[in-house]
This record gives sequence, C-alpha cells and structure tokens, in this order.
Amino acid sequence: MTAAPGPEGPETAAYDRLRRRVLWSMPTGLYVIGSRAELGGGTRRNLMTANLVVQVATQPKLVAAAIDAEALTRRLVEAGRSFSISLLAREDRAVVRRFVKPVTETEVDASGTTVSMAGEAIFDAPSGVPVLSRAVSWLDCEVREHLDLGSHILYVGEVVAAGGPDGEGPPVLRMEDTRMNYGG
Ligand SMILES: Cc1cc2nc3c(=O)[nH]c(=O)nc-3n(C[C@H](O)[C@H](O)[C@H](O)COP(=O)(O)O)c2cc1C
Repeated sequence: MTAAPGPEGPETAAYDRLRRRVLWSMPTGLYVIGSRAELGGGTRRNLMTANLVVQVATQPKLVAAAIDAEALTRRLVEAGRSFSISLLAREDRAVVRRFVKPVTETEVDASGTTVSMAGEAIFDAPSGVPVLSRAVSWLDCEVREHLDLGSHILYVGEVVAAGGPDGEGPPVLRMEDTRMNYGG
C-alpha cells in the first residue's frame, strides 16, 4: 500500500497513522544515555532511555543521539559536553522503564561518590557521566557537534572510552524486544 498526502489538501489522519507505523517499524537498539553537569549549584546526573542512537562515522569514531529539546538530558549534555551509552542485555528490558523520567533518587556512599540512580548501581565513565553497572558494554562520548532539529537536538559525540566483555557478550537490547514505541 502506498499513501502520501494529496497534492490538493492537508495530510489525512490515515496517512499520519501509516507514516507513524512505518517510522516505528524502523529497527533500532534501545539504550540508556548518561549525562552529568553542574546545575543549580550542584552536580546533577541523569539516565535516560533512548533508541534514536546510531554510529555515524568510523574515523573518528562518532555516535549520534537525538535528544528531546525539553529533556533534562538535553540540558546536561549541553552543559557537560559528554554523554554515555549503556548497552543492556536483552533480559534487562524492564530496566529501561526506570529511565523515562528524570532520575530523582540517587544514593551516595560515605566518600560522596554516587553509587546508584533509581535503584540501579552506576559508575562514572572517564568523562564523569554515569553508566549502568549492569550494562553489557558502554561508550563514553565527548560532544563534537550538535544540530538543532526542532523537537530534538542531534548530539554527535566522539567515543573517548568504551567498556565491554573480552569476547562476544550476550545479545544486547533492541526496541523489538519490548512493546514500547518512540518517535513516529
Ligand atoms: C522506548 C523509548 C525510547 C525513547 N527514546 C528516546 C530518544 O531516543 N530520545 C529522547 O530524547 N527521548 C527518548 N525517549 C524519552 C525519554 O526516555 C524521556 O522520557 C524524556 O526524553 C525525558 O528525558 P529526561 O529524563 O532527560 O528529562 C524514549 C522513551 C522510550 C519509552
């Protein structure tokens, strides 16, 4: 089936629905983006579920993430100039539900180090952004470019550190492992 807005009129609801379904069906991974910056007189960290993430160059190693212009993560990435990407095991799909709102609950140890966010253990990547301890693998990215796309800001980060298993790890989480949608 083909559908397009007619040349004579506005988009129909049917076209809008079909376009959304096609956009939702584009295969993507499902990640948790970590961010951190000085905000309001203190250090603020956040973790945010995201699927609009993809590698966009090989030399240098660049990864792009589209972040909602209104999100806390956007403010933190803008100010902190770094973001992390945690890749999760497929069986950890329930974990991403904890990171669809700004994290309010953090736990700090006796030395003042943040050790968990929303009940999930974390550690800081070399550039200071949080990574989920349960991640199968992770990337630490420094922002090199950004593009204001309207609803979202595309941040392009260079991979400055990475962690993961020595050999082949377990398969990582993708959008298709969940019943969630985003975008469209
Ligand atoms: C499955 C799924 C995928 C998402 N993907 C993105 C994404 O790629 N970019 C984005 O900005 N928000 C994405 N969101 C929304 C964020 O997780 C979050 O709700 C919102 O942006 C607020 O983020 P904040 O905690 O930084 O304020 C997604 C949500 C879900 C449930």
